[in-house]
Amino acid sequence: MNTEKGKKVTVPGLADMKQSGQAIVMLTAYDASFAGRLDAAGIDCVLVGDSLGNVIQGRDSTLPVTVDDMVYHVQAVRRGLQRALLVADMPFMSYHDRAAAMNTASHLMRAGAEMVKLEGGSAMVELVSELVAQGIPVCGHLGLTPQHVHQLGGYRVQGRDEALARVLREDAAALENAGAGMLVLECVPNRLAAIVASQLRIPVIGIGAGPEVDGQVLVLYDALGISSGRRPRFVRDFMRGQDSIDGALAAYAAAVRDGSFPGDEHSYG
Ligand code: KIV
Repeated sequence: MNTEKGKKVTVPGLADMKQSGQAIVMLTAYDASFAGRLDAAGIDCVLVGDSLGNVIQGRDSTLPVTVDDMVYHVQAVRRGLQRALLVADMPFMSYHDRAAAMNTASHLMRAGAEMVKLEGGSAMVELVSELVAQGIPVCGHLGLTPQHVHQLGGYRVQGRDEALARVLREDAAALENAGAGMLVLECVPNRLAAIVASQLRIPVIGIGAGPEVDGQVLVLYDALGISSGRRPRFVRDFMRGQDSIDGALAAYAAAVRDGSFPGDEHSYG
């Protein structure tokens, strides 16, 4: 089992966790020190998210984040991890065509990533299969995709109406068929997320997608209650009731594994 102390988490191991009904615990990190604490707390997947644009760089979106920014933080996180799988975001406009995608993914993998994540549905299918053919595991990201914030008109729940929900279900199936090894679903109604997770063989990780998925992810600084600005509904401050960061990380991992997070108050009905 992947939660055995010290056993390295791998991409096939994540699929086994889904098969055996073991919840996957994921958090973001951006530096070696936090990465080491996450690893010690038994976090299964560490995402170097382009959310670093918000929480590290203080910007109001992820759009300004560059491949160089990502590589710098992936290298730092790599040095802090032993057990967890390291997933890295492909930043905005770094995968607009095949050559750009191959270049970005190869920089991220050489920096120490074990899987890359990209946002988008059917338009990404060809790229996903080409990356996978080169031996690069890919995680999809559907629902609220922050790199599309201007097209979406803001950071809002996606897939509430039936037509968009159908597109999302079809996109999820297309990404899986193209070879994606995991899917992040952000800010979608619980029921839609539950349907997608039950239809796919690959693990579906939710953030604001309710409890009936295969795992959960949060931005680390949200989970520690230190993000500025309005707190999204799906966030719980795990520092509450804890007197250390290690305590908060352990509480998060336990709450995801025992199913007590997310509750109704963190989800979209
Ligand atoms: O960039 C990020 O941190 C993410 C998570 C919110 C899933 O994509």
